[in-house]
Amino acid sequence: MNDTVKLVEVGPRDGLQNEPNLVPTEVKIELVERLADCGLGHIEAASFVSPKWIPQMADGHAVLTGIRRRPQVIYSALTPNMQGLEAALAAGADEVAVFTAASESFCQHNIHCSIAESLARFAPLLAEAQKHRLRVRGYVSTVLGCPYQGAVKPAEVAQVADALYQLGCAEISLGDTIGIGTPNQARAMLAAVRQQVPIASLAVHFHDTYGQALANIHALLEDGIRIIDSSVAGLGGCPYAPGASGNVATEDVVYLLNGLGMETGVNLDRLVNTGRWISQQLGRHNGSKVGLAWPR
Ligand code: HMG
Ligand code: MG
Repeated sequence: MNDTVKLVEVGPRDGLQNEPNLVPTEVKIELVERLADCGLGHIEAASFVSPKWIPQMADGHAVLTGIRRRPQVIYSALTPNMQGLEAALAAGADEVAVFTAASESFCQHNIHCSIAESLARFAPLLAEAQKHRLRVRGYVSTVLGCPYQGAVKPAEVAQVADALYQLGCAEISLGDTIGIGTPNQARAMLAAVRQQVPIASLAVHFHDTYGQALANIHALLEDGIRIIDSSVAGLGGCPYAPGASGNVATEDVVYLLNGLGMETGVNLDRLVNTGRWISQQLGRHNGSKVGLAWPR
């Protein structure tokens, strides 16, 4: 497996959206800038959702307009609807992401509509994004299990991934929102999805609640996945996935990929320092094993 992997750093968005205390805008800006300085080329920096539901993400405009942009870095944002897209355009996002789920009950809890309604909502958003030549990513949550309705079938994931792809999403990120899946299950899910969406357009997004994220990632790398979402210091969680822990730590993913001889363009030493810095800023335990073990 001697080739290149695209990492999508979701720490500033997925990582911070669940923090109990409001993180100062300056800290968010510094985090995004530090991550860019580590060599991360794709950073999900903001979320233009309802501040009533996710107050932590209310300063997305200030974050996106406050960072010193590195020309080679893509700064993206979550956009659940047209209102979100307009806000993302106004803030100068390079890419946006829509999000839905493979399970009806998670979709209802998260974005207050059915899966079909979410797709209908995304259609005009994708058309508008296209006019602005804005690339759109699509997230499918709960691909290996739902906190409300339990098991999710691979065919259900494939159907939603296909619908997002048909709508024009350039990349589909498959999210184990509650971090519950194991490798064979992840493989079966991917096998179903890749029949609908080319593997080169698929990303994986593992939360690490049960400590399975790296095992799942390794299995799916063997199956051809080359886009991985992760979060510095393992920050993260979804407010509508009770008990779910953070994303797999970017440091741990980079360490794994280095060991496999795969290229990421990331400076691990700097990344570890960034993970330590943000953990300290948030008064939070560093969720990266590599971050804890790396020599000081
Ligand atoms: P809604 O509650 O169904 O109602 O919103 P609405 O559309 O009628 O809007 C209600 C209020 O929100 C209105 O304001 C709107 O203006 C406002 P009011 O009249 O009450 O003052 N509003 C907005 N404000 C700012 N930006 C917007 C926006 N849209 C409406 N874009 C909505 C539906 C989806 C907006 C809402 O439910 C929401 O924002 N939910 C947040 C969901 C969320 O952010 N979840 C976490 C991210 S997803 C995730 O973490 C999973 C992922 O990581 C993958 C994985 O791990 O699986 C991606
Ligand atoms: Mg997530």
